[in-house]
Amino acid sequence: MSDDVYRLIGPGGNEMKLPIRTGTVGPNLVDIGALYKTKGVFTYDPGFVSTGSCESDITYIDGEQGILMYRGYPVEQLAANSSFIEVSYLLLHGNLPTSKELEKFERTIRRHTMLNEGMLNFFKGFRYDAHPMAMLSAVVGSMSAYYHSEMDASNPDHRDIFAHRILAKLPTIAAAAYKLNTGQPFIYPRNDLNYCENLLHMLFAVPAEPYEIDEVAAEALDLLFILHADHEQNCSTSTVRMAGSSGANPYSAIAAGIAALWGPAHGGANEAVLKMLEQIGDVSQIKKYVDKAKDKSDPFRLMGFGHRVYKNFDPRATIIRDMCHKILQRLDRKDTPLFDLAQELEQVALKDDYFIEKNLYPNVDFYSGIIYKALGIPTSMFTVMFALGRSVGWAAHWREMIADPTTKIARPRQLYTGPAQRDYAPIEKR
Ligand code: ACO
Repeated sequence: MSDDVYRLIGPGGNEMKLPIRTGTVGPNLVDIGALYKTKGVFTYDPGFVSTGSCESDITYIDGEQGILMYRGYPVEQLAANSSFIEVSYLLLHGNLPTSKELEKFERTIRRHTMLNEGMLNFFKGFRYDAHPMAMLSAVVGSMSAYYHSEMDASNPDHRDIFAHRILAKLPTIAAAAYKLNTGQPFIYPRNDLNYCENLLHMLFAVPAEPYEIDEVAAEALDLLFILHADHEQNCSTSTVRMAGSSGANPYSAIAAGIAALWGPAHGGANEAVLKMLEQIGDVSQIKKYVDKAKDKSDPFRLMGFGHRVYKNFDPRATIIRDMCHKILQRLDRKDTPLFDLAQELEQVALKDDYFIEKNLYPNVDFYSGIIYKALGIPTSMFTVMFALGRSVGWAAHWREMIADPTTKIARPRQLYTGPAQRDYAPIEKR
């Protein structure tokens, strides 16, 4: 808390001093918690554009400078040197692990990969073409039925076990959803494989023949998961916190987060970008689609462009674009029409006054789909991949919220614009 106060002058010159809260870095926040009690007014901020909802020491973003740090470490350094499992430890525990801690953590995650066999029955109830995000949310929600009586949120050990289960079992659930879509048999996890190798094995192996894991693909997924691991109070993470703030079972809170992530304005954008690029089809059509995106009477938006927080560039998009070059080269893809189209579209948009004035830049979702596609992952699974990476961020935020003694149930207020009080009229008089 800083010594400075924010002076709010109300009607009639009534002054109120509001405390200012100062974080480690970043803008100050005006603490309005006492506003209604003392002045009888609420603040109005649809979409929480100027509102901080909690205190957190997990992730920091500076949208103007394009900075993203997990526990103080710039994401570029983590992407260049770390692994998703190490980053997961960092997000959950606050510091980078020693080799002993990392070894123990990785072993724990590898040993939690199997699902209760009964959980596989859920997949029998879905239609063959059910969207994998719908299945992921539903089956993760079902974990609350399996782990309810033994989940005491006030017990730190239970909170750890919850985080381990979420991290370890989501790839198995995701792969089961994919197998349902393809009509292939479910493939059990292999605990001798690392996180991403195991995911590839469960997605692409079939019982009829041996499956060779592509190390390039495993490394690419690992890097993408690092970049998606957390992003402070984004829509899905805030959903997890909000659902969890009522004391709800945390697996249900994660299921709610997965549902929020699916929307095209959030994690669903990676699927939407690929569909958009396929729809544009050719560089000759770019101008037409850029014009559509600028036309206020047309609902079309350039998917993968724009961000609530980043107003300069999204550091994740820069890393992923560079990665696209490397991956496509290493996979020996010479003919890369979608990547070529995406790069051209980026160039055209970045030179356009509309996008310049509104600070619209490619976000994390703009290039990630091109990599997923090159790895053979179908479009409908793109947002599932995002969810796997983000699962650890959700778990870290839920744990932080539950352990914070100042946490209250999330309960915003509203500006009521419905009818004032009126009297009930009998049906024959309406
Ligand atoms: N294409 C065209 N115009 C856009 C775009 C876009 N992609 N994004 C924003 N704009 C325009 C808006 O029309 C608005 O114009 P106005 O001021 O004239 O009304 C202005 O830019 C500001 O946009 P808002 O929607 O008000 O900004 P907000 O912060 O609420 O939304 C969002 C951010 C949802 C990401 C938005 O930029 C968008 O819809 N982008 C496309 C979807 C997308 O890529 N989502 C992924 C985000 S990253 C993630 O969640 C993982």
